[in-house]
Amino acid sequence: MHRRHFLASSLSGLAALSVGPSIFSQEKKAAKAAKAAAPVPVSSDPLASLFLTWQQDPTTTMTIQWVGKESVADIRVAPQAGDQWQTAKPTTKPFPDTELKVHRCELTGLTPGTEYKFRIGNGDKDLLFRTMPAKATDTIQWVSGGDSGIDAHAIGTNIIAAKQEPWFALVAGDLAYDDGRKPETFLKFLQNWRQHMVDPKGRLIPLVSCIGNHEVNGAYKQQRDKSPAYLSVFDGLFREKTFSALDFGDYLSLVLLDTDHIEPIDGEQTSWLAKTLAERQDRPHLICANHVPAYPSYRPSDGTAEKGGTGEDQRKYWSPLFEKFNVDVVLEHHDHTFKRTHPLKGGHIDKNGVIYLGDGSWGKIRAPKRPEDRPYLATVAEAYHMTVHRLEGDQRFHVALEESGKVADVCMTNGKRPAKRG
Ligand SMILES: [Fe+2]
Repeated sequence: MHRRHFLASSLSGLAALSVGPSIFSQEKKAAKAAKAAAPVPVSSDPLASLFLTWQQDPTTTMTIQWVGKESVADIRVAPQAGDQWQTAKPTTKPFPDTELKVHRCELTGLTPGTEYKFRIGNGDKDLLFRTMPAKATDTIQWVSGGDSGIDAHAIGTNIIAAKQEPWFALVAGDLAYDDGRKPETFLKFLQNWRQHMVDPKGRLIPLVSCIGNHEVNGAYKQQRDKSPAYLSVFDGLFREKTFSALDFGDYLSLVLLDTDHIEPIDGEQTSWLAKTLAERQDRPHLICANHVPAYPSYRPSDGTAEKGGTGEDQRKYWSPLFEKFNVDVVLEHHDHTFKRTHPLKGGHIDKNGVIYLGDGSWGKIRAPKRPEDRPYLATVAEAYHMTVHRLEGDQRFHVALEESGKVADVCMTNGKRPAKRG
């Protein structure tokens, strides 16, 4: 009897204990549901989402876009020094799952390395941008990161990024977290960008991107129609495929890849990557960017945790190409930490290997695994951050800045392709 009584009371004790966590988890779920149900506070001003990007040559073109109600508004543009105004007409197309339109105007035939001003419709306020220089005769700096979202930390990182006066910013996947089904979340991301990604001289900072799982309804192995908001504004660069290369004058190529969200890693994308890297061997700066990391700082690296996004296929198909063609640095994200790997070849530390920088904490954060547990990691930090890349000759300085402005890491990479040696 005593034994039975003991067991009964123990079981009731366990049952009582189990009630606590389930209440908490219910409360947590309810809070999460309430947060999910709360409308995203978007501005109805169409120009609140105005942003700049590129569909081709960043030295002679600029694409101006905004999302809002349909209305015809010409764009006037002129070099900042002068009054030779020219007029351009935007095109419109649907911003999917809404009544709004994407307005797009690509300015072409611009002069490299030149400051411009533009106005929308009858507006009398000058908006500013600059074209990229044709030659890297001076220091050029730009910023990169991933995994932003729309909350206060994303805005904090926007603010520290803009202060660096970058020529452009690359967000390599998981921009808004619209998941292919929350257009207002994507709109809010653009509105935050318009508000905060303005440099100290008043120039709008162009946005370059690649696709991540949170751009796509279903995250992995989907079709283009599952990424309606993202592709409605970035289908200029990603016209037929969600991978592309952007060449800046004679000095920088950014190779933007899709880690199996829409395009499979092996097959066509891998063949394209090999050809694209082979054709750019004379570039002083050859940089690849993709969303899911080949060398993760948080998620398991052996592919046990998820069906998609494990990095395994990248290590198998892409890393050998990064190594063969001496890519200067690979930017990868998704894990929500700061990380820098050692230079790696075949997964082992090798001074002639490739450095992978990431790991996606523009506005999201997690505690990283330790380098002691993952020997490919050189350094990690649990910090919201983006990285400033300064290009000087064939040298690159990569300075990871935390949201507060604190330096998380500095590293330098040198040109190592045969064409640039000696
Ligand atoms: Fe992600």
